Amino acid sequence: MERKKFLQSLIGSSALLAIPGSRDLNDEYALPEIIRNTKKAVTGEMVGFSVDAIDKVKVGIIGLGNRGSTLLEMFQWLIENDRAEVVAFSDVEQAKVDRSVEKLAQWQKKKPKTYSKNEDDWKNLVKQDDVDLVLICTPWRLHTPMALYGMRNGKHVASEVPISYTLEECWELVETAEQTKRHCIMIENCCYNEEEMFVLNMIENGVFGDITHAEGAYLHDLRAFMLTKDYYHDWWRLKQHVSRDGNFYTTHGLGPVSHYLHIGRGDTYSHLTSMSSRELNLSTAAKKTGAPYTEFKCGDMNTTLIKTEKGKTIMLQFDVHTGRPYSRINKVVGTKAVHDGYPSRLYIDKDEIAFSGHNWLKQEEYDKYRQEYMHPIIRKLKTTSESFKQGHGGMDFVMIYRLITCLNLGVPLDINVYDSVMWSAVTPMSELSVASKSISLPFPDFTGGTWKMHDVMEINRELETA
Ligand SMILES: NC(=O)c1ccc[n+]([C@@H]2O[C@H](COP(=O)([O-])OP(=O)(O)OC[C@H]3O[C@@H](n4cnc5c(N)ncnc54)[C@H](O)[C@@H]3O)[C@@H](O)[C@H]2O)c1
Repeated sequence: MERKKFLQSLIGSSALLAIPGSRDLNDEYALPEIIRNTKKAVTGEMVGFSVDAIDKVKVGIIGLGNRGSTLLEMFQWLIENDRAEVVAFSDVEQAKVDRSVEKLAQWQKKKPKTYSKNEDDWKNLVKQDDVDLVLICTPWRLHTPMALYGMRNGKHVASEVPISYTLEECWELVETAEQTKRHCIMIENCCYNEEEMFVLNMIENGVFGDITHAEGAYLHDLRAFMLTKDYYHDWWRLKQHVSRDGNFYTTHGLGPVSHYLHIGRGDTYSHLTSMSSRELNLSTAAKKTGAPYTEFKCGDMNTTLIKTEKGKTIMLQFDVHTGRPYSRINKVVGTKAVHDGYPSRLYIDKDEIAFSGHNWLKQEEYDKYRQEYMHPIIRKLKTTSESFKQGHGGMDFVMIYRLITCLNLGVPLDINVYDSVMWSAVTPMSELSVASKSISLPFPDFTGGTWKMHDVMEINRELETA
């Protein structure tokens, strides 16, 4: 029974119903077959999908905590330039709604409608006629239900990371986007960071030759945040660590790396294996602070390895328990160059098979590359918009700017529904592998096979706007 509940929590109830009764769920070697059984008949038709241009995008924001209130600030420039309008807010905490209404009044005359009566009042925001785009910034459990409800009510949806929890949710998001023909994007801001875009631009211009390996991570000491009452609504983030073990926060590392490797655009994930260390750091800290939870299943460090269909490898790590400097690693290894992040360093291979001399570029040479290969989108935004400085060093603004601009122009978004679920599906897959002695698991093809044909890197397009 326990095993069945565990599998249901990661795969989904209806997907599990399809498993023949004779199957022994305790047999870890049954897992690959169970994962293959989750497959739904998706077509991949949302690749390259666009809708008619929306001159001024009307936005409703659900969840006005740490993230929702930061993302709201990214709209200032777009509102002042008549490209977007924030028409609705929802949060279960009235004080957070009031704070956002006050903030918005600094740049927008028209007041938004607000929804804060109860846990379900956000549904009324979704149904508000003039909303074009629903921005979801709530705790993780709510992302998929809100995104599905949004699309089923005719709205485009943009969800914070990760967009889904179970493999069934991943399939349901793809199916629903295809059926309703609505945009469904997971807004992964790290794809838009200056360093990641510099690396991507070098890759696209051949500096790295052919890529063989990449590494990404979310290594961020979140103990102070998770153990402080009211920092996160109702301890939602700490609770995750009580009963789950795997990589819960894949996308900050995996999003940019997937772009480097052209995942969904000529390559895709084939299979993965995952392993977690024992847990020590979070429980020690929790006991000192008197938090309501002190025992945690989630190991301090999770390491997941992914192999792609074209033979590249990805190492992805997750550790929010350990005191250490922040890092997303941001490593790429190619036949002609290597990049390592935190701090950003570049090695250019001079095609010499030598015993020594393998040094990172000196600062002066590195700076030349940084200038020459600065991503054109970053170069343009740095000179045209003061708002470039906003949100995690600029990446939050670039992300919201790109999302709204794609809608203003009626062109496909940079990140599609397939990218969104693929990057998120690594979470349940990692949990399944961790719980099964790191067994190798096949990765579902959510793209309906379109990863073989599609070759446009939407994020690299320069979009012409006023
Ligand atoms: N991309 C990034 O850099 C980044 C940074 C921080 C957080 N996040 C993501 O943003 C999301 C929110 O995180 P946070 O730090 O803002 O958490 P938070 O707890 O501060 O905010 C969540 C908000 O959702 C509200 N909420 C809960 N249930 C609701 C409901 N039924 N209806 C309406 N509102 C409801 C809460 O009251 C709270 O204000 C998470 O998915 C997190 O992973 C992303």
